Amino acid sequence: MTDLSRRDALVGGAAVGTVGAMRLGPAVARDAARPALPIPPELRATAHGEIALSARAGTVEFLPGRSTATYGYNGAFLGPVLRLRRGQTVMIDFANHLPDPTTVHWHGLIIPGDVDGGPHRPVAPGQHWRPTLSINQPAATLWFHPHFYPTTAAQVTKGLAGLLVIDDEDTDRLKLPSRWGVDDIPLIIQDRRFTRDGQFFDRMNITAVTNGYVGDVPLVNGVRCPEARTTRGWVRLRLLDGSNARSYVVKASDGRSLFVIGSDGGLLESPVELKQIMIHAGERFEVVVDCRSGTPFDLLTLPIEQPIMRLPPFDGPVPLVTIRPVGVGGTGELPASLVKLPPVPGELPPVSQQLVMNMFRDKEGMMPLMKAGLMSMAKSGKTDPAVVARVTKLIVDQPELSEAVQLSANGVNGRPFALDEPMFAVRRSQELRWRISEASDRMLHPVHVHGCQFRIVSASGQPPEAYRAGWKDIVPISAGGFAEILVGFPCPAGPDTPYMAHCHILEHEDSGMMTEFTVG
Ligand code: C2O
Ligand code: CU
Ligand code: CU
Repeated sequence: MTDLSRRDALVGGAAVGTVGAMRLGPAVARDAARPALPIPPELRATAHGEIALSARAGTVEFLPGRSTATYGYNGAFLGPVLRLRRGQTVMIDFANHLPDPTTVHWHGLIIPGDVDGGPHRPVAPGQHWRPTLSINQPAATLWFHPHFYPTTAAQVTKGLAGLLVIDDEDTDRLKLPSRWGVDDIPLIIQDRRFTRDGQFFDRMNITAVTNGYVGDVPLVNGVRCPEARTTRGWVRLRLLDGSNARSYVVKASDGRSLFVIGSDGGLLESPVELKQIMIHAGERFEVVVDCRSGTPFDLLTLPIEQPIMRLPPFDGPVPLVTIRPVGVGGTGELPASLVKLPPVPGELPPVSQQLVMNMFRDKEGMMPLMKAGLMSMAKSGKTDPAVVARVTKLIVDQPELSEAVQLSANGVNGRPFALDEPMFAVRRSQELRWRISEASDRMLHPVHVHGCQFRIVSASGQPPEAYRAGWKDIVPISAGGFAEILVGFPCPAGPDTPYMAHCHILEHEDSGMMTEFTVG
């Protein structure tokens, strides 16, 4: 019953909570009533080890009185959380009830290429796909989403994304907050823009293929500025930046510490205490916050550097979600130490692979923005409504690119993605050092690699920040910098279903900033 009502909330999108005339603390935005945070229902395998998943079209009322056409997994928008255990084998029965072909990619799962759900595994409308997934990796917060080339961005924009949580002996042993939706709260952070008739804005024009999707409405679990009611005690927040392109600087409105306990692929060795954390498209961080006093707070996002991502409302702090610890009986703890990670060897192997992110049309994309005054506005730090109007017009009104132009706008190692040409081959189960960089564009690229969890060993020559030093499947590159990762691929991926390496700005991915490789 609880699951059902939660799921209805998720599907309904705009469910309104019942906050009465409660006095709000000064740290919390003063709306009279916040919609309740929808909690994606947990979906576990049946006794036969099966999980049924389907993608379908629906509608959600994001804006009062407007019905927005959406896609979702097992519901109208987003999806359930697939709850899996290390050592488990599950058979997924995926049904595509959409009018378009799609794929389901298990982002962060270490599984062979033939079940990875990349662009080589399209599922036609009306068809099923039944991959068997053997889970053999540490507890982590992963996610799943479409990977159909070249419409991943469009399908994610419509709502296709869900969480996948792995548990293991470590999470059994540690007393972390782990009551789903009570003191263990999933937060899928996204941004959207709506057209005048209430539909999702979505246009692959030159602004999009250079800058990615620029939304002006933040959504958390599909709702604008919701409120999560939690127990008093330690509360775990599982953050996923499920946006197509936007990064967030996440901070508590009252400045309380965020204890980062996990990154993309699992728990850290020990909690990392920070006042704010940066999260990029596709990344996950698990954070524990002290809610023992019962004082509510907002999770805010602060303005980021990228000028086009500082358009209002993101030119100042924006509340994403209110955390209101009202219930008694918080039992979770914040352990001083978490798990043992394999040490990064002092002596690294030589760099065996370079990946350079290319933008072939960045000047064409940036010039009109420059002319519109975006860069000078960013430098001045003062929002100018005339500039905002001109830039918004470019975002919204520039014409859709022809498919040929779209597919060749970006690239990796000098060429746009080609579906049937693996670019390189790697040997299975070897420890490899890769160098990832960008050409001359100086833009942000959160680069993701399939089939692995890696360690960042260099962020432009520096050690990674402590909260990015654990298991990762995305590494951000920006401002002409580079990264080196220590990576291995335990599973095979043949030429028919190779692994992908790509920028997780989905508009970059869909316009050529992706490559594929085999593991044998
Ligand atoms: Cu999250 Cu290749 O994708
Ligand atoms: Cu992936
Ligand atoms: Cu990119």
